Amino acid sequence: MSPDAAYYWMVATILPRPIAWTSTLNEDGSANLAPFSFFTGITSDPPSCLICVSRHAPSRKKDTRLNIERTGEYVIHVVTDALAEQMNATSRAFPHGVDEFVEAGLAKTPSEIVAPPRVAEAPVAMECRLDRVVEVGRSGGAIIIGEILLWHVRDDLLVGGRLDMGRLDAIGRLSGAGYTRTRDRFEMPRPK
Ligand SMILES: Cc1cc2nc3c(=O)[nH]c(=O)nc-3n(C[C@H](O)[C@H](O)[C@H](O)COP(=O)(O)O)c2cc1C
Repeated sequence: MSPDAAYYWMVATILPRPIAWTSTLNEDGSANLAPFSFFTGITSDPPSCLICVSRHAPSRKKDTRLNIERTGEYVIHVVTDALAEQMNATSRAFPHGVDEFVEAGLAKTPSEIVAPPRVAEAPVAMECRLDRVVEVGRSGGAIIIGEILLWHVRDDLLVGGRLDMGRLDAIGRLSGAGYTRTRDRFEMPRPK
């Protein structure tokens, strides 16, 4: 199976995937923002997550990876239905140094611990510090593992100190141009 065919089967069968909308800082201090749906949590001690970043071309690392390797800092935002189009706009392969916040009409707000700014419109953001980068496979793709230092959660999403999933209204990635909403939910307590 070719890598392209394998990619199709991966995204068509590993789903739905959460989207890590990731902000970083370029060398000149401008901001970079891009979505990554090969994203998951790893362990809660310390709280850690991973994103998988492929390459634009065999010799061209994506800006997100370059910036995280250089600065060790990034912010991951949850993508909500209201922000879907802006998220998509930030996925274009802009030349290095282009500020995707500006391209997508998004406002910045400062982070507390790390230098990259947050997306002001995003109701949940996780400030992260790089733990390690692990290259996997033959095309220079990498797993970026980081520690979540701080969660920002907009007040109106909280009910009794817990996140209300309906108010969050997150979306997930399927294959191709497909996405899913999280409005159709059900509960199923685990067997004792
Ligand atoms: C919903 C969505 C999910 C994506 N997931 C990934 C991913 O997991 N890994 C990846 O390398 N690229 C992924 N992409 C593509 C990147 O967002 C795209 O290559 C972007 O231009 C990278 O930007 P950067 O060079 O500023 O880092 C995804 C795109 C979209 C729209």
